[in-house]
Amino acid sequence: MSPMIRIRSDEEEMDRVASSVGMDSSFRLVKVVSFLVIFVGGVILGLTASSHVNRYITTQTDLFFPTNRNPPIREMEKCLNCPFRSFLKPDNLTHSMTDEELFWRASMVPTKEGYPFKRVPKVAFMFLTRGPLPLVPLWERFFKGHEALFSIYIHTPPGYILDVSNTSAFYGRQIPSLDVQWGGITLADAERRLLANALLDFSNERFVLLSESCIPVYNFPTVYKYLIDSVRSFVDSYDDPSRYGRGRYSKNMYPEIKLKQWRKGSQWFEMNRFLAVYIISDTKYYRVFRKHCKPSCYPDEHYLPTYLNMFFQTLNSNRSVTWVDWSKGGPHPATFGESDITQGFIESIRNNGTVCSYNSEQTSVCYLFARKFAADALEPLLNLTSTVMKF
Ligand SMILES: *[C@@H]1O[C@H](CO)[C@@H](O)[C@H](O)[C@H]1NC(C)=O
Ligand SMILES: *[C@@H]1O[C@H](CO)[C@@H](O)[C@H](O)[C@H]1NC(C)=O
Ligand SMILES: *[C@@H]1O[C@H](CO)[C@@H](O)[C@H](O)[C@H]1NC(C)=O
Ligand SMILES: *[C@@H]1O[C@H](CO)[C@@H](O)[C@H](O)[C@H]1NC(C)=O
Ligand SMILES: *[C@@H]1O[C@H](CO)[C@@H](O)[C@H](O)[C@H]1NC(C)=O
Repeated sequence: MSPMIRIRSDEEEMDRVASSVGMDSSFRLVKVVSFLVIFVGGVILGLTASSHVNRYITTQTDLFFPTNRNPPIREMEKCLNCPFRSFLKPDNLTHSMTDEELFWRASMVPTKEGYPFKRVPKVAFMFLTRGPLPLVPLWERFFKGHEALFSIYIHTPPGYILDVSNTSAFYGRQIPSLDVQWGGITLADAERRLLANALLDFSNERFVLLSESCIPVYNFPTVYKYLIDSVRSFVDSYDDPSRYGRGRYSKNMYPEIKLKQWRKGSQWFEMNRFLAVYIISDTKYYRVFRKHCKPSCYPDEHYLPTYLNMFFQTLNSNRSVTWVDWSKGGPHPATFGESDITQGFIESIRNNGTVCSYNSEQTSVCYLFARKFAADALEPLLNLTSTVMKF
């Protein structure tokens, strides 16, 4: 009996409220009518949905062989219940987002000042590779003991599985990747994909692009301090009047991009979070490159230098922190092997007598990384870490 009484008294309560706002006896009728409307509406909706689902099941093999098209909404719903820390930093770099979905998500920037957690800024080391990473033992030595201050991201050819032990800093750090053609727009796509994946960790503050043939020439604390304390980013950007520079500009890029804004630079960049967000958020200018920077144009050598020159001049130092030797000429820089590695050689990269601007000072430390080093350079390099590179 008591539940009945309960319902009745609830109804009476509603009636009382209804009459008090002047709807009196017609309220009951309104209730009945609206109930009917909702019920019929529900039935119609249910029928439509089930016929849609039927059609869906019969026509969409996706349901049985899911591709990566469906999940984002489901993933997000699920993740409202995820631990807060997995929002701040994905536990696992594997995901099924398309680039479009990933870039959109990575472009989100908190507006509220401060963080509801202790944020220790990290450097994201992003390796763009064609497969193996022969110099991993050198990098592992470089990273050892600094685990809280860096993250690693690796873009390999799709399907390639990097063979490293489960105790390595490189273990489980491959991001979902796509095919890359040297010199084409897919190379710039991969750079942006690395940036976007690294942006998902809110602690990453600086972003360095490296290849399998890069080495560090200073120890971790020096590199970390240099990058974290820098006011500007290190993206090589200069005006090259030759056919290898301005010659690659296409008139079809006008008016979005003008010849006087066109810049060239090494693809091996370093940038801060602020710029990284803008890079992966840009659609307008990237589309112009995708459409008109070909053939023999090399988007990876022009997109970032040009884009930063157009919008963020004051935030860029216009120089790269990755040393490379172009002195031998040709389309590829020099590669150094076992017999080239001497104490004097590495010391000359660390300090070759030139000075560079750093914040408002001048410094002899211009390069933190160097390329290109062959696999057989590993042993002699490991021999020099404690004496020359100090790690
Ligand atoms: C990450 O997730 C993928 C797919 O869900 C799984 O196969 C893989 O083992 C996970 N990796 C780690 C390191 O947990
Ligand atoms: C790492 O691999 C070893 C075997 O190679 C295994 O015994 C160990 O449980 C693994 N550790 C983790 C954390 O997966
Ligand atoms: C970088 O180059 C731009 C012109 O392209 C210039 O305005 C800016 O001052 C340069 N930055 C530095 C640090 O020299
Ligand atoms: C130092 O290295 C830079 C970059 O490779 C080069 O341009 C410059 O000429 C070098 N300076 C000396 C003194 O070797
Ligand atoms: C490493 O250094 C040791 C002694 O310092 C030397 O005997 C050895 O030949 C070196 N190895 C390489 C590959 O340079």
